[in-house]
Amino acid sequence: MQSQSLRVDEVLRDLDELRRRDPDVHGGRLFGLVYPSGRDDIEELIHAVYERYLFSNALNPLRFAAQAGMEREVIAMAGDLVHRRATENHGGAMTSGGTESILMSMLVNRERARAKGIDRPQILAPWSAHPAYAKAAHYFDMDFVPIPLDGAYRADVAKAQELMTDRTCVVVASAYSYPHGIMDPVEELAALAQEHGAACHVDACIGGFVLPFMEMLGRDVPPWDFRVEGVTEISMDVHKYGYVPKGASLILHRDDDWLWYQTFFYDQWGSGLYATPAIAGARAAAPIIAAWAVMKHLGVEGYMEIVSELLVTVAHVREGIAAISGIDVVGEPIGPLLALRSDTIDLYAVADVMDEKGWHLNRNTEPYGLHLMLSPAHRHVVDELLDDLTFAVSHHGNSQGKPARYA
Ligand SMILES: Cc1ncc(COP(=O)(O)O)c(C=O)c1O
Repeated sequence: MQSQSLRVDEVLRDLDELRRRDPDVHGGRLFGLVYPSGRDDIEELIHAVYERYLFSNALNPLRFAAQAGMEREVIAMAGDLVHRRATENHGGAMTSGGTESILMSMLVNRERARAKGIDRPQILAPWSAHPAYAKAAHYFDMDFVPIPLDGAYRADVAKAQELMTDRTCVVVASAYSYPHGIMDPVEELAALAQEHGAACHVDACIGGFVLPFMEMLGRDVPPWDFRVEGVTEISMDVHKYGYVPKGASLILHRDDDWLWYQTFFYDQWGSGLYATPAIAGARAAAPIIAAWAVMKHLGVEGYMEIVSELLVTVAHVREGIAAISGIDVVGEPIGPLLALRSDTIDLYAVADVMDEKGWHLNRNTEPYGLHLMLSPAHRHVVDELLDDLTFAVSHHGNSQGKPARYA
C-alpha cells in the first residue's frame, strides 16, 4: 500500500481508467459472465437496495431478523417456481452462487452416504455438467464419475445405469447444460437414482429462472423440477436469469431435514454458537435483498414478459445463424443458450475476428465451436451481432490458437 492517502476523486479517476480496460457490462457484447436485463426499472431498484444494504451482514439471522425473513421469502418464492411443497422451514438456503449451491448439495449427499457407511461416495454427473461437481468431489473426498453424452448431447441413461455402483450417492442432471444449453433426461436419471436409493440433483443454475416461465408461456418443457419423483435437490441462480448482481443463488431440498446436513454448528470457543448453512461466514446482505426486491418487483408476470421477449431474441438469432451457410446450432437447445459448430469453417478463427470487433464470444471444445449465452439486453444488438458473424465467417484467416477458457 502507498504511504500517502489519495483524495476520493483521485481514487475514482484511477478506478475509471482501470475500468475502461474491462468489457462494458451493459454493452451487450459479453455472453454468460453477466446477464443484463436491459431494464432501467430493475437496475434502479437494485441501486436503491445496494444503497440501503451496502454494509449489512447476513451472518446472524437473529440480529437481522427482517433481513433473514426476506431471505426465507426468496427461498419460498423460488420453491414455488420449482413446485417444492411449501413447508415452514423451506428446506433451502441462499448461497453466493451456483458453485456454492452445488458444493453444499454435494456435501449433503456425502454426509448422507457416510451415515449409511459409504466412506468415499461417488457423484455421477453428465460429462457436460458444470465443473462445480468435480470441484465438490475434489473438496469433499468424493469421486466424480462422468456420464458420457448421447448423440444429442444429453446424458446417456443406459451408460449412467452401467456406471451406478453401491457408492453412487447422487445422480446429477442439468436443466439445462452450460456447454450446449440442452436438457438432460431428468425423469430417467431421477428414476435411476431412486431405484438405487441415491439422490438426484437437478442443476437449474441457468434454467431455474427461465424454464418455469417458458412453461407458463405454453412452451414445451420436459419435466425437470420437484414434480418429478426422485428429484431431491435443485440449484438455481438468481444472479443469472433472475437479473440480480452476483452473490445470489439457491439450493433447495425436497426434504426439509436435508438442510441440516449442510449446516455447520460449533460452540467450542469463546463466543457462543456459530451455525451457518453454507460455506461463508459473514455474507453480503445486498445480493440477497436485491433478489427479494427484484422478485417482488417483477413477480411471475414480469419474469414471463422478460422470458417471452428473450425467446423472440433467441428466435431472431437462430434465424440469422440458419442463414449463414456452414454453421449449425448444436443439438436441440431449449432456451437462450446456443452452441455453434461447423464441419467446414474454423469457428475459433471466426471467434478471433469477432474478438477484434469487440464481441466476447466464448469458445467450446466439444464440439469445437462457439458458445452464445443470450440475455435480454442482447435484443438491442442482434442485427449487429449477426452482421458481424456473417462477415467473420467469410473473412477470417487462420485461427490464432486462442484456447477455450471458461474461468
Ligand atoms: C449450469 C451451471 N451450473 C452451475 C454454474 C455455476 O454458477 P456460478 O458461476 O454462479 O458459481 C453455472 C455457471 O455458469 C452453470 O452454467
